[in-house]
Amino acid sequence: MSAKHCRFAQRMTNDKVYAAGLLIRALDPATQPPAIRAFLSAELDLLSDIVRPGTRMIDIGCGTGRHLAFLGERLRLGIGVDYEFTYIVEAQRRVTNANLRFIAADATAVPLHTTFDLATCLTNTWGTMSNPTGVLDEMRRLAPQRRCRLLSVFSQTSIPARREWYRRFGHEVREETADFLLTEGGLRSEHFSEARLRTMIGDCDIRPLGDVAYAVRF
Ligand SMILES: C[S@@+](CC[C@H](N)C(=O)[O-])C[C@H]1O[C@@H](n2cnc3c(N)ncnc32)[C@H](O)[C@@H]1O
Repeated sequence: MSAKHCRFAQRMTNDKVYAAGLLIRALDPATQPPAIRAFLSAELDLLSDIVRPGTRMIDIGCGTGRHLAFLGERLRLGIGVDYEFTYIVEAQRRVTNANLRFIAADATAVPLHTTFDLATCLTNTWGTMSNPTGVLDEMRRLAPQRRCRLLSVFSQTSIPARREWYRRFGHEVREETADFLLTEGGLRSEHFSEARLRTMIGDCDIRPLGDVAYAVRF
């Protein structure tokens, strides 16, 4: 990374980018190129397929709670965790089902001692987190059964669509590497090959999700 880009990254880390409300703009369909919209829709289809009625689920990096809200009454219990307090407040305002709860906490230190049937980290949330290994460990603790942890992450084929998406919500890409995009506004978002996912996660199942992402069960 050049000295100039180091200065960018120091000035705007992802937590500051989220605190500035990036998620709200990113979820506006008007900012989303067709490949991104298809991916978001494929993610919902996947959740519909795998989540059985009565499931206890925790969604890590839940943002404003849209995936838990989508599953709604199908869940016996749904807990959303996000470190950005304003997103948690918005989730609590929007989602009033008694079985769904939202808490502000860091993904590497979730203040819960119960376990769940399913732990998710969706929409490349894992690819924006500063301690991805710590998040995997926490997902394993919270959902101890093998293959009951689900990530959805961007693949390398996502790069053109993400460049366009980020540009439309005001984050022109300033740096592209084999592993990440870094925007002018300081958003750092990773993308993954299957080999890199296996190195980082270990034993896992990897399936394509739309044309631009993978669903990973571990
Ligand atoms: C790409 S957004 C996706 C939000 C949500 N999953 C969705 O798809 O609508 C990533 C979310 O992860 C949250 N986040 C990032 N790092 C986090 C961490 N270490 N602990 C908790 N939340 C985190 C951000 O605040 C943001 O809401």
